[in-house]
Amino acid sequence: MIIKPKFRGFICTTAHPEGCQAQVEEQIRYVLEQNKISGPKNVLIIGASTGYGLASRIVSTFGCGANTIGVSFERPSSGKRTATAGWYNTAAFEKNARQAGVKAYSINGDAFSDEIKQETIALIQAEMGQVDLVIYSLASPKRTHPHTGEQLNSVLKPIGQSYTNKNVDFHTGEIKSLTVEPATEEEIRQTIAVMGGEDWQMWIDALDQADVLAEGVTTLAYSYIGPALTHPIYREGTVGRAKDHLEETAQILQRKLEAKQGRAFVSINKALVTQSSAAIPVVPLYVSLLYRIMKEEGLHEGCIEQIYRLFAEEIFGGSLPHLDAKGRIRIDNLEMREHVQAEVDKRWDTVNDQNLIALSDIEGYRKEFFQLFGFEVAGIDYEQETNADVAIPSIDK
Ligand code: NAI
Repeated sequence: MIIKPKFRGFICTTAHPEGCQAQVEEQIRYVLEQNKISGPKNVLIIGASTGYGLASRIVSTFGCGANTIGVSFERPSSGKRTATAGWYNTAAFEKNARQAGVKAYSINGDAFSDEIKQETIALIQAEMGQVDLVIYSLASPKRTHPHTGEQLNSVLKPIGQSYTNKNVDFHTGEIKSLTVEPATEEEIRQTIAVMGGEDWQMWIDALDQADVLAEGVTTLAYSYIGPALTHPIYREGTVGRAKDHLEETAQILQRKLEAKQGRAFVSINKALVTQSSAAIPVVPLYVSLLYRIMKEEGLHEGCIEQIYRLFAEEIFGGSLPHLDAKGRIRIDNLEMREHVQAEVDKRWDTVNDQNLIALSDIEGYRKEFFQLFGFEVAGIDYEQETNADVAIPSIDK
């Protein structure tokens, strides 16, 4: 079929297999051009098909030579529907990893469930024995609690009072004022249950009980802080509460893993265009301004550059990672540089529909959004027929 983007707001309901493959191979190329990392050998990535989790899988295999198991929740193609981008990314990753002679297995299903945890453990036992790195990179709007069956939803809302700020429609370049009403206590509770650390801890407990965590294992989860202008909607809002919980969980896991000389960290990463971040009010305009400034200064990084740096310089760099006062790794250090943020603030105050293109990288944002789904990728002829029915080698469709 001929595949074109079909989008509504921050959701694109189609994806292009060859475009996704080209994007994955571009990330692989970047890692192959860097120095090899003396790192993990068997890695489990939970949330492995897009964004930071996919980049973590690519760095594990092509930077460290590691075997991987990737867990994600994606949709295969059916009838006239394409698969999701994460499905195509996973297929492309596995193909390249296997060609490189490294084991790559993928599990597609709900990572919050006990069944998927047990399936993953059985696969580790059969193929790897134990894992020495576990990356938790889930981003989900909902979770079914595995023990109570409760359906929990995550919301992006401020706490205590409403929040009004500028927001861009990145398809049209229109800037409008947006007001988000504060969350209820119940919404806060549910958001923490979805995006906090409970599930990460359940994974580590289950893996530990099954004795599939190697001596000296490292586990990592990702978080975000960002600038004051997004704090009411992000870090001091519902998702920020969940991130506080995730960060507290790292300390619990650190104590738990000490018995086997293990380590647990949260890494604070940079704001980037991913399927999850596009959904956060105000963030697309912030990211457009940030990208422009960081690109002008030669400081820009995408997911793959961020995660390569995290592995090579912090986690497997041979010395202890640099931690902030709260014990977190800060690969958001370039984003948070004082002069970068001062310039964002200055432009934020003046940006409007007329000067958006001059002040921001809105075009880059829009393009990267489409590239998440395999569109607008150089070298792909989008007028050509494409086979949307792509199999992931390790998964029986
Ligand atoms: P993403 O949307 O690109 O990836 C989410 C992954 O989770 C996908 O692989 C998806 O298949 C998987 N997933 C979602 N629900 C699942 C389920 N029920 N079962 C199994 N897999 C499931 O997200 P992104 O942006 O890479 O986020 C990953 C982490 O990085 C999150 O903790 C996020 O807060 C954090 N982060 C993101 C930043 C950004 O700007 N995008 C900045 C800093 C941290």
